[in-house]
Amino acid sequence: MTTTQHENLEHALLLGGELHGYRHHEVEDAARQAGPAHLAVQPNHVRVHVATLGLEAARTFLTDERLSKDALGVAGAMRQHMVAAGVEPNVSAIIGGSMINADPPDHARLRRPVAAALTPRRVEALRDSVTAITRGLLDDLDPGRPTDVVAGLALPLPLTVICELLGVPGEDQAMLAAWSSAMMTEVPEQQQPASEAMVGYLAALIEQKRAKPDDALLSALVHVDVEGDRLAPDEVLTTAVLMIAAGHETTTAGIGNTLAALLHTGQWSAVAAKPDAVPDVVRESLRFDPPTRNIPHYLVREPIDLGDHVTLPAGALTMVNLGAANRDPEAFGPDAHRFVPFRPRPARSHLTFGNGWHRCVGSALAAMEIEIAVRETLVRFPDAVAAIPVDRMVRNPHVVINGFTRVDIVLGG
Ligand code: HEM
Repeated sequence: MTTTQHENLEHALLLGGELHGYRHHEVEDAARQAGPAHLAVQPNHVRVHVATLGLEAARTFLTDERLSKDALGVAGAMRQHMVAAGVEPNVSAIIGGSMINADPPDHARLRRPVAAALTPRRVEALRDSVTAITRGLLDDLDPGRPTDVVAGLALPLPLTVICELLGVPGEDQAMLAAWSSAMMTEVPEQQQPASEAMVGYLAALIEQKRAKPDDALLSALVHVDVEGDRLAPDEVLTTAVLMIAAGHETTTAGIGNTLAALLHTGQWSAVAAKPDAVPDVVRESLRFDPPTRNIPHYLVREPIDLGDHVTLPAGALTMVNLGAANRDPEAFGPDAHRFVPFRPRPARSHLTFGNGWHRCVGSALAAMEIEIAVRETLVRFPDAVAAIPVDRMVRNPHVVINGFTRVDIVLGG
């Protein structure tokens, strides 16, 4: 492989390459064939070994006990890379101290109270409320002219749901949406003030819940005392920030990517005619175009041999590329690179929600939200058409989130 090709590969693995349509798919597939990991440099100078393993190898890798999520270890390695590159070591420690930056046994204590609120049964109880929020958002869309369904539906729906779950008052939700979007950019000057504002707001809200508890999750986290589990005040705060960060833009991308895939593969009306198939269609979309491009950083504690003469050194940072695993032909067949909405249910599931200790705790909620958003949109607007061609649709340049910045549709009807 020439140097230029290699640079393109790194760029595409981290940021989606040319960021249009589905072009990054080819690069991820080529990367899997070229080797099990590729060293890439993020825009913030952090060096990361992107694992481009097949499905089973990636699933096993994520349970390797030589990997750590420890906040100090991961952030420490990032700082070292920035210092070595001669830039200000600007690492947000905002979700350090939450479950996603903890190793066992602390991880379980931090995760248990959140997991208790997100069991499939608890999530199912939210179905009517998620449907009502979705219908309200669809009511406000203009079916006669090109409409961006990311802004109108995919972005506000998950944020409203997560805010209601946490107990954030309705009038404050637009403010949280703006901070959350700014935090998800790769621009530190925008991230920093937004994260400080969100932390300040949530800290004050937590104090209110301490004084005056309600039925929502934030109060439960403040008052948790299950089998001796307790969360320190700063852990309640970092957990709340994590829930918003992890639960919002991922689900937004899941809704946008699914609607886009249905439009741009000409399958919209076929699925609209079979709304019962939507859960399977969403599963296929999460496999084909996962809302998480890479599973975020793990620290390699001891060298890990990935085969093919590639060893991840101790002290390195690694991410797992989901496109490479999810479109592995050995797991999903020779047409794994295609979106097949009525694909017979494959023997193995996609890896989009991760695996191991850190497997997504919100996966049942996310799947239900995407399913409801997609079904309600299809049933109400069965004749919708794309407003712009797929190769002009731009993706967000983000190392973790993989979604279109906008999905323009003439909804019709
Ligand atoms: C389609 C939408 C979503 C996708 C693709 C997704 C994906 C993921 C992935 C890949 C991980 C594993 C991270 C790792 O190993 O480091 C994860 C963890 C997590 N997700 Fe999700 N997620 C989604 C929606 C949600 C929602 C709606 C919530 C909250 C309501 C949520 C909360 C979390 C939390 C708290 C973790 C950390 C779990 C832990 O460290 O134990 N996610 N998610």
